[in-house]
Amino acid sequence: METEKMFKGSPKYFELTAGEISNEIYHSMNFPTRCGFKCIKCALPGSCGRAVGNLLTTDQNIEILNKVKKIGKRALVIMGLGEPTAGFSLVKPVIKAANDREFITIMFTTLYDLDISQAEFYQDNNVTLFISLDSLDKNMYRSLTGGGDLKHVRRNIDVIRSVYRNTPEKIGDQKIVRMGFNVTLCRQNKDEINLIRDFTTEDEIFVVNPPMKLGRLENLAAWKMLVGDDEGYEELKNLARLHSDTGGQSSLTKKRICGYCDLGTANDIDGQILFPCSYARKSGLWLPNIMDLTSTQFLKLSQKLKVLMHQLIQTFGITSSCPVRDEAFFQTLMKRLKELKL
Ligand SMILES: C[S@@+](CC[C@H](N)C(=O)[O-])C[C@H]1O[C@@H](n2cnc3c(N)ncnc32)[C@H](O)[C@@H]1O
Ligand code: SF4
Repeated sequence: METEKMFKGSPKYFELTAGEISNEIYHSMNFPTRCGFKCIKCALPGSCGRAVGNLLTTDQNIEILNKVKKIGKRALVIMGLGEPTAGFSLVKPVIKAANDREFITIMFTTLYDLDISQAEFYQDNNVTLFISLDSLDKNMYRSLTGGGDLKHVRRNIDVIRSVYRNTPEKIGDQKIVRMGFNVTLCRQNKDEINLIRDFTTEDEIFVVNPPMKLGRLENLAAWKMLVGDDEGYEELKNLARLHSDTGGQSSLTKKRICGYCDLGTANDIDGQILFPCSYARKSGLWLPNIMDLTSTQFLKLSQKLKVLMHQLIQTFGITSSCPVRDEAFFQTLMKRLKELKL
């Protein structure tokens, strides 16, 4: 039988290790970390369409971890803001607290500000890393990231590969890995997919995603530059489905919806709850603050939000496994949140 590869913290991993999985697996937290890049695509560039309240303290972030653990959460997801390796002092105590509570952390990063001690910390604290790698051509990398130095990133990839060399595990016929590459596909890099796949080793997952129309890509000129027209977007979506090891987003579930949404909850840097995931920062306008809810209240809200999402899916259908990537669906979802004021 062929060995199946999955990443530690994926829905498949939880099914394999825990049997039937609940609807409450992931909790995503945004952190106010800086970033030295200026990617044309950046979905989380800082501003978010609402006034942001007081930033959460580390103690409050840990209080949130305790709250979400009570409702069965098993994984902390860090997708932004900014670059977590550049804001290591912010994420470190929360990742450590997550590991102490037997959470897996899934962190998205360029690795730009990595050093050996950071790498060892991630290795020791059960962190699965998704490394953004949109090109292996230094000029293209610089252009897509607004100045990123590919040579520097390649050196840091070597560091993390060396530190993570013993992290793959085998469970039966399954290989569990703790590193992956994440490519955001665009017109400029679509012909590089095979090259980046070949760069990925047997100990790493390869995930390809089409862009989301959020953050800097809400600007039409930027969207047209990276994506083109509707036909261009369809092509990118199809290529991503075809080439991604998971068949789509990193956390795709059996229902073929992104698990960070369907099995997840999220909060922003000020504690506002976000839905369907931590990219949807504007949704914080219409949702309560996680610090004001008990774990039971938070669970009830999460259940309501998921029922709402599935009702909308049944009524309108959805053209993407990512509720944010189907623009019409996403706008309808935001409108309903605004009307409901949950
Ligand atoms: C917002 S970034 C933050 C973490 C880190 N700075 C990085 O770029 O990996 C989190 C993930 O979102 C992806 N991303 C950013 N903007 C996107 C967009 N408009 N559409 C799809 N993915 C995007 C990045 O490639 C990365 O994998
Ligand atoms: S996508 Fe990541 S690396 Fe690029 S600008 Fe945004 S936060 Fe920085």
